[in-house]
Amino acid sequence: MTKVSILDLQAYKNRGEKFSMVTAYDYPTALVADKAEIDVVLVGDSLAMVVLGLPNTVSITVDEMLHHCRAVARGAKRAFLVGDMPFMSYTNPDEAIHNAGRFLKEAGMEAVKLEGGEQVAPIVEAVVRAGIPVMGHIGLTPQTVSKLGGFKVQGKDAAAVRQLIADAKALQDAGCFSIVLEAIPDRVAKLITEAVRVPTIGIGAGPHCDAQVLVMHDMVGLFDRFVPKFVKQYAQLQPQMVDALRQYKAEVAAGTFPTAEHSYTIKDEVLEQLY
Ligand code: KIV
Repeated sequence: MTKVSILDLQAYKNRGEKFSMVTAYDYPTALVADKAEIDVVLVGDSLAMVVLGLPNTVSITVDEMLHHCRAVARGAKRAFLVGDMPFMSYTNPDEAIHNAGRFLKEAGMEAVKLEGGEQVAPIVEAVVRAGIPVMGHIGLTPQTVSKLGGFKVQGKDAAAVRQLIADAKALQDAGCFSIVLEAIPDRVAKLITEAVRVPTIGIGAGPHCDAQVLVMHDMVGLFDRFVPKFVKQYAQLQPQMVDALRQYKAEVAAGTFPTAEHSYTIKDEVLEQLY
C-alpha cells in the first residue's frame, strides 16, 4: 500500500486523470474509504449535519472536529487526509496557523480545508508559509450560508463568474494545493478548472473538474433529511439497517436469537460442582 501524497494529486491533473475524494467521520467510515482506495478523505464539517444532526455547519468547534479526525486517521492509512477548519477558526493568520497546526499535530491530518476566495487568500498564504498544506473551497460555502441566503447554486451571472475565477486564482497564488468547487454551473467549473494549475474538486460542479467529492452519508443513503440534486446515491444503507434491526427485534421477541451459534458454553463437570 502506497500512501497518497499531494504530489500524486497534482500528477493526476498533469496527466489528465481524475481522482475521487469522499468524507469520513469515524473509524468505520475511514476504513470503508480506504478499502475502496479513495485517494483523498476529507473529515468535513458536514459532520455537524449528517452525523450530529445539527441544522448547519456553523456551530461545530475545532475540538469536536479533532475528535473525529483522530478516529479517521486510525482507519485511513492510504488516503491523503484533510481536516475541515470550522467557521470562525481562521479569522486572522495567527488564529488560523494555531488551529490548522492542531489538525496536523493532534489529529493525524495532512492538510486543512478552509472556505472562501480572495478575502481568505492572506490567511491561506500564512498557513501555507507555516508548512501546512491548504485546500480551498469556493462557490457554495456552507459556513456562510446565512450570508448567501441559503444552500443555493452560485456563479449564475457574469460578475459572479468573474469573481469565482478571481477567487480560484487568488487561492492558487496563495499556495492552495487544490480547490473545492461547490454548487456552480458545469461550464463555470470548466472555466475555473482551465484557469488554474492546481486540481479542482467538484461537488455539484459538473463533470469538467479534475476530481469529485461526495459526502459519504449522502452517497450511501444514511442521511435522509434532504438529498441535494448533485448527489448520486450509490447505496441505500438506512433502509437496510432498519430492516436488520427490525429482524433482530423480532427474533429476540420470538426467542430465536441468540441460538447456540452465538452463545458461550461451559463444561458439564463445572456446572455439576455447583450442586
Ligand atoms: O464539509 C464537507 O463535507 C465539505 C465537502 C462538501 C466538500 O466541505
